[in-house]
Amino acid sequence: MREHRPLVVLTGAGISTESGIPDFRSATGIWAKYDPMEYAHIDAFRRDPEKVWEFYGRRLSVLGDAEPNEGHHALAELEDRGWVRGVITQNIDRLHERAGSRALVEVHGSIRTSSCLQCGAVLPIDQVVGMLPVPRCRNCGDVLKPDVVMFGELLPAAQIARAEQLAREAGLLLVVGSSLEVYPVAGLPLETLANGGTLAIVNRGGTPFDARASLVVDAGAGETLRALAERLE
Ligand code: APR
Repeated sequence: MREHRPLVVLTGAGISTESGIPDFRSATGIWAKYDPMEYAHIDAFRRDPEKVWEFYGRRLSVLGDAEPNEGHHALAELEDRGWVRGVITQNIDRLHERAGSRALVEVHGSIRTSSCLQCGAVLPIDQVVGMLPVPRCRNCGDVLKPDVVMFGELLPAAQIARAEQLAREAGLLLVVGSSLEVYPVAGLPLETLANGGTLAIVNRGGTPFDARASLVVDAGAGETLRALAERLE
């Protein structure tokens, strides 16, 4: 990290499992129980919004109880001490923000708000939770959609553009807790490598980019990031 500056961090669901939030593709992951095409695809939402909200309603209550863990806090500390230029996260749980990360790019949106696809109304999560099981727009009665990127949707343009810029300019891209299976985010390591940057991966289990990484640490996100924050003055 001392020789490869600036450091940019890319996180996935694996950094939040230690906060009690299941990831998606490990053996105990969400997609082992729910078919993402039935519960997390925009076509499924348009076809049966109540069914998708049955899934998201459960997620909102799990996310509501979660607290940032030592991995989130270590990244916020490293940012405060000038080591981290930015955190790109695929997570929608807001734990990085609550841990104090400021240079944060949420490329898959977040549960912070839900919106009406019909009239554009936007509601904060605390109002949406009060409207479960099926939050409806007060203006037009349409079922609200959580402002997270579903399969079949484009990523928020400003966020993915910022993420690509950070990846291109990174001396080191540190991936933490992601299977690097979902594009376009999984393409970010290629941006770093193509521009002469270095890749490091902290993840339980392999990823398709391990062979391109200078360092692969198969260990817990929290313990590894905590150890890193302690080693770097
Ligand atoms: N420490 C380190 N790695 C962990 C930990 C942990 N405590 N817990 C889980 N992992 C690893 C898992 O083994 C897995 O390889 O984190 C990885 C998480 O991968 P995924 O479950 O695929 O999550 P992610 O990469 O974030 O998925 C990307 O897919 O479904 C969509 O929109 C969703 O943002 C998500 C995207």
